Amino acid sequence: MSAIATLNPFSPVAGAITHLMVGTFVLLFVIFFLVAGLITFALITYRDREGAEAPKQSFGSRRLEWTWTIAAAVTVTVLTLVMLPTITKSDPAPGGKPDVRVIGRQWWWEIDYLDSGVVAANEMHIPVGKRLLVDVESEDVIHDFWVPELGRKIDAVPGHPNLIWIEADAPGTYLGACAEFCGVEHAWMRILAIAQPQPEFDEWQRAQLAVPETPTSGAAGEGARLFREQTCVNCHTIVGTTGNQRVGPDLTHIASRRTLAAGAALNTPEQLLKWLKHPDSIKPQSHMPDFQLNDDQAASLTAYLETLK
Ligand code: CUA
Repeated sequence: MSAIATLNPFSPVAGAITHLMVGTFVLLFVIFFLVAGLITFALITYRDREGAEAPKQSFGSRRLEWTWTIAAAVTVTVLTLVMLPTITKSDPAPGGKPDVRVIGRQWWWEIDYLDSGVVAANEMHIPVGKRLLVDVESEDVIHDFWVPELGRKIDAVPGHPNLIWIEADAPGTYLGACAEFCGVEHAWMRILAIAQPQPEFDEWQRAQLAVPETPTSGAAGEGARLFREQTCVNCHTIVGTTGNQRVGPDLTHIASRRTLAAGAALNTPEQLLKWLKHPDSIKPQSHMPDFQLNDDQAASLTAYLETLK
């Protein structure tokens, strides 16, 4: 992750966008300095001087009118021509079959791998060097999916799926974010795009598809019972349990994720406990309710969720 991610592309699409942006800036700077230079020159050369006569007035120079009309038209045409290949590169043709569906929600991302059936949240694993067609949607308000090092940004619009390409040239973790104000926790709607070599990615998918064993004894067993009996099951899925709702993130492999609450906290047992006890202390006004769990209950739930690798 570089400080200026947009200048540090890691995919053909992001590369094309960066080159277009830099090229456009250079052209616009040249024009800016040309115009500013001419104005400065005119201001100094033709400034009012003591005792000077009024300058010769000019009006209606055809040649000048043509010059700046043509110069502006040529500039706009050149910009359009250099833009077209980037648009072709970054915007998939409509009607393609997506590999991944990303659904924006207040305030997290669901990530569905349409071939394998893996359901992830906020963490998008991708195989290095493979171009994935991503269908971006929203379940509530308009969000905007953007991982600047890997591709263009695109709005997540309810009822209007949009397609983009996501690809990474090199393994690594690329930070993305929601780029459209979508409510109080807009800032905590991060995306971690994790690019891995194909075998590692396949391994990750296999692990995500495994059905975790539900513990029956100890604190974790107690936590599993609480998960069923408290209202967790009304919003969350854990495959292999009665929880099969999609209101909140799928928790089947929550312990394998790096962050909690779409990036608001690192996924450590301490932070998870804090999140369960006082969600507002980590992400105020998120839709994760505070169930007033006592210390034992929160500890048991944490112990259970930590088994979900
Ligand atoms: Cu979602 Cu901003």
